[in-house]
Amino acid sequence: MFHTPIVPRKRPRPVEAGVPRREQVKFENVRLYLVERKMGHSRRSFLTQLARSKGFMVEDVLSDTVTHVVSEDSQASALWTWLKGCDLKNLPSMHVLDISWFTDSMREGRPVAVETRHLVQDTVPTFPEGATPTPVATVSQYACQRRTSTENYNKIFTDAFEVLAESYELSEFEGQCLAFRKAASVLKCLPGVVRCLGDIRGLPCLGEHTKSIMEDILQCGRSFEVEKILSDERYQTLKLFTSVFGVGPKTAEKWYRAGLRSFSDILTEPSIHLNRMQQTGFLHYKDISRAVSKAEARALGNIIDEAVHAITPDAVLALTGGFRRGKEFGHDVDFLVTTPELGREKSLLPDIIDRLKQDTESGPRVQREGILLYCDYQASTFDISKLPSLRFEAMDLFAKCFLILRLKGSKVEGGLNSAAEDHRGWRAVRVDLVSPPMDRYAYALLGWTGSRQFERDLRRFARFERQMRLDNHILYDKTKNEFLAATTEKDIFDHLGLEYIEPWQRNA
Ligand code: UTP
Ligand code: MG
Repeated sequence: MFHTPIVPRKRPRPVEAGVPRREQVKFENVRLYLVERKMGHSRRSFLTQLARSKGFMVEDVLSDTVTHVVSEDSQASALWTWLKGCDLKNLPSMHVLDISWFTDSMREGRPVAVETRHLVQDTVPTFPEGATPTPVATVSQYACQRRTSTENYNKIFTDAFEVLAESYELSEFEGQCLAFRKAASVLKCLPGVVRCLGDIRGLPCLGEHTKSIMEDILQCGRSFEVEKILSDERYQTLKLFTSVFGVGPKTAEKWYRAGLRSFSDILTEPSIHLNRMQQTGFLHYKDISRAVSKAEARALGNIIDEAVHAITPDAVLALTGGFRRGKEFGHDVDFLVTTPELGREKSLLPDIIDRLKQDTESGPRVQREGILLYCDYQASTFDISKLPSLRFEAMDLFAKCFLILRLKGSKVEGGLNSAAEDHRGWRAVRVDLVSPPMDRYAYALLGWTGSRQFERDLRRFARFERQMRLDNHILYDKTKNEFLAATTEKDIFDHLGLEYIEPWQRNA
């Protein structure tokens, strides 16, 4: 539906096409609408021409294709009352901005990232009672523009969404899987519990299907669709099989199709040949499927730090992944390790692995089973001349190793996170070490800190809002055809024109 500006015009003027005719459009994904009220007709025309001359698309009429509404009206309530009366479907995802965003963007010659200070806030609080009101229009569709701590008030919904996402993932329905992950991610940033569907009105990424699941949970305390999935034999079996280290969805599906339903079916089936990773996965199944605690992650950090610094005193070691985001538990512990000397990082992981192996050989006879229980080392295939790559690959090109380490309880403050009946005094833990060259460190740190959804939306934001390519190796500006240098994560946020989000706010 289309709407004319607030103040009715005295004489009808011919409606111009929204896309400038002569000026080149530089920002395909940004469509401005300037509100005439308070701005006045002649100033609006002037600003429209200015923006178009800089490659912006400016729409003459307000419709659902508009992405950024710019107003000079200091009365937020009057503006919002008008906007809400316009029957726009996309209003919740539109940026409603004051003129400062426009002037910043004209000065920079590109649409600057929307910051809180630019927003014309809806003064009517919509969510939730008793908590800080979060005007829905301020919740971005991009996780990298939301601050998401580890505190999730809506676990009852996000857990249900995760089951649906996994089920779709196992059936290779990528779109639906992603839709539920996005919906869960939006709910995770809310400052309180959703008590009725009205609380989520206008939030991005929540479609009809997600809302119907939420409605069931709100009414009955559970979702029948989710319960059906949880009791489905195929889902249960594939979940069980993929919970083994080294078993992906394809292998799990193959085993399921062959009629196998349990671990003993697999282990007693003569035609199945497990690879080394899967053998180790079964061997340490109980340990690896048990969550790793923060104290255990810290203890592993100390062990690796000791090994790394014995090799290179100036090495840099950083904890990444979920623990860097402040999580209490994780499925593994992720570290980045490098050295200031470019090229030296190539031999760093093999040296660290050797050192961890020596731990085995030099120990007393009774402790022959050393710290390194499993190691899969993958050398670097990173080559900047082949970047930026057109596709995003799940795995980056840096040298890395997937390890299983033997962690003694005596090294862990407060003891191991193991079962009460477990008296071994140690447990196996999955550890990932990644070793980027120092000049790639900031990109790798940002990429490995996660969360997956946060990273996905950073890449999506870079691509669709900035015409840039971001991955774990580089940030590339397609409009200038150049790589953008960064030594810190903040540099990358700055290049993208995003407010800096701390690691513990990236739990999207
Ligand atoms: P993890 O799978 O370890 O996730 O990957 P996590 O957030 O630490 O969660 P848990 O607690 O272990 O389950 C850490 C981050 O590293 C990125 C992922 O996108 C994730 O955000 N990653 C992982 C890569 O960038 N490349 C990879 O090859 C693997
Ligand atoms: Mg992890």
